[in-house]
Amino acid sequence: MYQGRAQFADNAKVGQLATEVPFLEEHVSCLLRNPVYRIICEPASYSTFKTHAQGYVTAADDPVAFGQRHVTKGIGRLTEAVMTKGEGSYVHFHDGRRLLDFTCGIGVTNLGHCHPKVSKAAADQCMELVHCQCNISFHDSTIRLIEKLIPVMPDPTLDSFYFWNSGSEATEAAVKMARVITGKQNIICMQGGYHGRTYGAMALTRSKTSYSEGFFPLMPGVFSTPFPFWHQLGVVPNTSEEQLVRSTLYQLDLLLKQQTAPCDTAAIIIEPVLGEGGYVSAPSAFLKGLRDVCDEHGILLIIDEVQSGFGRTGKMFNVEYSRVRPDIMVMAKGLANGFPLSCIVSRKELTDKLKPGSMGGTYAGNVVSCAAAAAVVDAFQEENILDNVNARSKELLGALKELQTCPEVGGNIVDVRGQGLMVAVEFASPSYPAQDPVLNRSAPNNLASRVAKRCVEKGMLILTASVYEVIRFIPPLNVTREDLRKGCEVFSEAVKEIIREA
Ligand SMILES: Cc1ncc(COP(=O)(O)O)c(C=O)c1O
Repeated sequence: MYQGRAQFADNAKVGQLATEVPFLEEHVSCLLRNPVYRIICEPASYSTFKTHAQGYVTAADDPVAFGQRHVTKGIGRLTEAVMTKGEGSYVHFHDGRRLLDFTCGIGVTNLGHCHPKVSKAAADQCMELVHCQCNISFHDSTIRLIEKLIPVMPDPTLDSFYFWNSGSEATEAAVKMARVITGKQNIICMQGGYHGRTYGAMALTRSKTSYSEGFFPLMPGVFSTPFPFWHQLGVVPNTSEEQLVRSTLYQLDLLLKQQTAPCDTAAIIIEPVLGEGGYVSAPSAFLKGLRDVCDEHGILLIIDEVQSGFGRTGKMFNVEYSRVRPDIMVMAKGLANGFPLSCIVSRKELTDKLKPGSMGGTYAGNVVSCAAAAAVVDAFQEENILDNVNARSKELLGALKELQTCPEVGGNIVDVRGQGLMVAVEFASPSYPAQDPVLNRSAPNNLASRVAKRCVEKGMLILTASVYEVIRFIPPLNVTREDLRKGCEVFSEAVKEIIREA
């Protein structure tokens, strides 16, 4: 029988002791599972308690182990650590480490962590109004935000907005709109595309089977067509854009003749730059080709700018490069620099076809998030963010191309690609299928994930992407020249070390 005392920590100041209560063996596991209690016992019996609890630790003992025990396994993580603070291009962890953040929380904190103007706008809003449910009334911060967004839209026809929380919700709202507006059902998405992980969005996601494995059946009525990416067509990286566009528009034509007739097809959805699918930009000619197909057949074009939008590729929205007009555009991530907010925008003539009540959600378009987003749009103008993106982009692409030709890398980098600060490096792989033109049986295994891990050890967060050996660079859009150089150095050292060790 165990006996001891449990300290009851004051909830508000965990760690400060309020009370001590005696306990017996039968209470031990209950006490250990409750982080507001600390067990104190004689040193001799401490290990017995640990054994009894099968290695159970409190959040104060070991927050990482606590998280591993209590956060669902369905979430993969780049690093097993607890982030405690973010400032600009850097994040801090509970163990004292300070890391350069070239992930921006997957393209979200584009203006750096805790941007002073954005955080202040949110904090000020918190003291005025925190929640105004969108079916109750308009609220001031949405109205202000829309006023700021209208002038930066990639096409003047985009004038009717609806705000959600996540990219997945906004994608699904776009699908609902397309179906009800056209009276048709089927949606065409791109192979390698990513639109989210909720049920409807997951049905449109074609970048990795791990997102949908075991979750079928998905939303019906979805068809996919190849994206103009050399890998998907089994051709070499320097294949001409013209050839890629010709092949993929031809495949789309076949899809409309063989699988989903235009009279059944409501929308084509595309990321103008594949995000999770490996950071591949759609050539302008492809986007223009999609626009023509949509116009010819009364199909809506949904442009998903969730990851590529808000300055990430050097223009406010990537679709500006092609000047293609979206019928519906989806935004999220950088929109509010970390506050949960997504948005679909379309033209009033289309959204007027929606019945009141068909859209809505308890937390949709949160007031505080909208206030933060309005500050984001201001910061873009006041701080010349796009100029910095374009200047740093040249430096980043230059450094990576130089690394690609470096003798120590020995041909193991097969592609450096990207626009603005949405840039990727693809490594050679010995495990690509035999038909893949960049299969290299003598290349080291799993280069991307090993390099990403080494970068973390060396002080920089960076992510992989896609089913290929790809590392993606998503630095803050206002990253300094020095921090960008530092990030490139860390990456280059990590690549060389891993190749040497292989
Ligand atoms: C292009 C794109 N669309 C949609 C989504 C889904 O957004 P969320 O994760 O906010 O649901 C993402 C997320 O990474 C994305 O990159």
